[in-house]
Amino acid sequence: MQEKLSIHGAWSSRWVFIMAATGSAVGLGNIWKFPYITGENGGGAFVLVYLICILLVGIPIMVSEVLIGRRGRQSPINSMKDLAVESGLSRKWSLAGWMGAIAGVMIFSFYSIVAGWVLYYVAGMANGEFIDIGSEMAGKKFEALLADAQTLLIWHTVFVLMVMIVVAGGVNKGLERATRIMMPALFVLLFVLLGYSMTSGAFGQGFDFLFHFDPSELTWNSVLVALGHSFFTLSLGMGSIMAYGSYMPKKSSIGGTVVMIALLDTLVALVAGLAIFPIVFANQLDPGAGPGLMFITLPVAFGQMPGGQIFGFLFFVLIAVAAWTSAISLMEPAVAWMVEKFGIKRLPACTALGFLVWALGIACLGSFNFMSDLKIGSMTFFDLMDFATANVMLPLGGLFIAIFAGWKIKQSVLKDELSMQNHFWFSAWYVAIRFIAPVAVAAIFALNLYNKFTV
Ligand code: PHE
Repeated sequence: MQEKLSIHGAWSSRWVFIMAATGSAVGLGNIWKFPYITGENGGGAFVLVYLICILLVGIPIMVSEVLIGRRGRQSPINSMKDLAVESGLSRKWSLAGWMGAIAGVMIFSFYSIVAGWVLYYVAGMANGEFIDIGSEMAGKKFEALLADAQTLLIWHTVFVLMVMIVVAGGVNKGLERATRIMMPALFVLLFVLLGYSMTSGAFGQGFDFLFHFDPSELTWNSVLVALGHSFFTLSLGMGSIMAYGSYMPKKSSIGGTVVMIALLDTLVALVAGLAIFPIVFANQLDPGAGPGLMFITLPVAFGQMPGGQIFGFLFFVLIAVAAWTSAISLMEPAVAWMVEKFGIKRLPACTALGFLVWALGIACLGSFNFMSDLKIGSMTFFDLMDFATANVMLPLGGLFIAIFAGWKIKQSVLKDELSMQNHFWFSAWYVAIRFIAPVAVAAIFALNLYNKFTV
C-alpha cells in the first residue's frame, strides 16, 4: 500500500519533526508563564503537580495527538473526522478539532501581546536602556510600557506579521533551519543566565522555592492551573502537535520522540525558573508579581552583569524566536483546515486568520490600559483569554483526544501506528490514555466547579 501523505508537505526526517515540535512546545509558556504562575501558586508543591501532569497526562496525550495526526494526514479537524468515520463513529468528533482551532486563535491573541513586550525589550536592550537598572526602575519601565497602548499595538502588529509570513511560506522552508540554530543557542544562554543567578542571586532561596514541597500551599485552583499549564507548555489539546504529526514520516517511532520533546520542554522551564527566582529573591522582588515577573527581573540581572547589554539583547532575541516558533503552530491547524476546505493558497488563509488574531489582540492589550476597567468575573479580557484557553479549552480538548484514542480507535490501528516493539510501554501508554488522563482531567474540572459553587 502506498503511504498516505499530507497535501501540505512532510518533514524531511524524524529530527526535523522533533525540532519543529520542540519549537512549538518551548515558548513563552516556559520562560514567561511557568515562572510567574509558579510564583503565584506558592512554588514547590505546584511544580510537583505540574511535573506529574506532564508525565501522566501530557506525554500520553501527546502520543495520541501525533498518532491521530499521522494517521489522518490532514488538519486536526479533518483528521479527527476521517478517523472517526474509519472507526464507524460520528463525524461530530471533528468538533474537538474545531474547538482547538478556535483556542489557537484565542491563545495567539494574548500570546502576541506578550511576544510584543519581548520585541520591545529586544530594542531596549540594543539601545542600552537597561544598563545598571535597579529593580524599582525596571518595574516602572514595565508599567510605563503597559500603559502605552500605541507602543503595544505596534509590536503586536509586528509579531502577527512575522508569524503570518512564515506560516504563509509553509513550515518546511526557513523555519526548520531557524530552529536548528536558535534552539541550541537558547539553551546556552539560559545556562549563562543560570550561571549568573547562581553567583549573584539568592540561589539557595530560589532553588528552595521551586523544589520545596509544602502541600499546604496547594489549592484545587492551583492544581487546575498546573494541569492547564502542562497542556499549554506542551502545545496540547488544540491540534498543534496533531497538525505537526500529520507531516511526520511514517517510519519513525512516536513514543521515544514524544518523550524527548517533553523532556526538553520541561528542562527549559525548570532552568528558566532556576535562573529567575534567585534574582527575584536577591532583589527583594515579589515572586507573585504576575505577568511582569520576567520583564522586571531579567533587565535587573542583565543590567548588572558584565557584558549584560549583549547577553540581554541576545537573550530577548532568543525568547522572541521561541515565541515565534510557538505562535506558528498556533496558526497551523486553522490554516491547514482553510486550505483543505476552500482549496485556497496559504497566503489568503493566513491573512484572514492573522487579521482576526490582530483584532482580538487589540482587546487583549487594552486590558492593560484603555480597557482595564472591563472585568468579566474578576478577570480582564487578557486574563479571560488565558484562563478560558489554558484552563478550560485545552484540558477539555485533551480529554476528548484521550477518550477518542483510548476508547474509540481500534486497538489494531493504535498498534499499527505506534508499532512499539516493547509490550510494556504500549500497555503503560494504554492504561494512561484510557484511565489516568481522562479521569485526572475530569476530576480536576469537577473539583474546581464544586469549589466554585460551594465557597
Ligand atoms: N507551548 C507554547 C509555549 O509554551 C504555547 C502553545 C500552546 C503553542 C498551545 C501551541 C499550542 O509557549
